[in-house]
Amino acid sequence: MLRAVRIAAWAGIAVLLFLSVALGIGWWRVDGPTVAQEVSSTPRALPQIGGPFSLVDHRGRRVSEKDFVGRPMLVFFGFTHCPDVCPTALFEMTTRLAALGEEGAKLQALFVTVDPERDTAAQMALYLGSFDPRIVGLTGSRAEVEAASAAYRVIARRVPLEDGGYTMDHTASVFMVDSGGRFAGTIDHHEDNEAALAKMRRLAGS
Ligand code: NI
Repeated sequence: MLRAVRIAAWAGIAVLLFLSVALGIGWWRVDGPTVAQEVSSTPRALPQIGGPFSLVDHRGRRVSEKDFVGRPMLVFFGFTHCPDVCPTALFEMTTRLAALGEEGAKLQALFVTVDPERDTAAQMALYLGSFDPRIVGLTGSRAEVEAASAAYRVIARRVPLEDGGYTMDHTASVFMVDSGGRFAGTIDHHEDNEAALAKMRRLAGS
């Protein structure tokens, strides 16, 4: 009997390990009609990604997910002092939104900081001045920002620099959320431009 219990416990641990590895790799995010269909027909099988948040936009306005209801969203986490990944992602977002024209206008892009200590609303506004003006920057208290990143399973951590400052390591995927508020996959950092545009077009039609 004890042996059976032990086997059951190990099987449980194995399933948990598999799920966490799958979550880390994000294998189900491989996009395509089949997966997209699966996503809409079996919402319970999908990991819970996204959810409610309360943050402050780059104009200093308190906003929540309710302010974007009915609009498909592209949610990206980063920070304005990022040397490479964030400016590249925001630049790509800017060119892709422009390339999509009217379809791009249906999408709401959100840039959520993982570094609220430095990324005040004013700093976000200054930084976003270099990109598509439709991209909304979001910041808040450390707790509010951590709650938002936890909802999206985003990992962010502070890395000290030799000069006494710090940088942030963070998840670089763009999360797609459909007009019904459901997670609809990701656009990854090194995604082919055409593939990314196809995903954004599909999201715009959601
Ligand atoms: Ni970054």
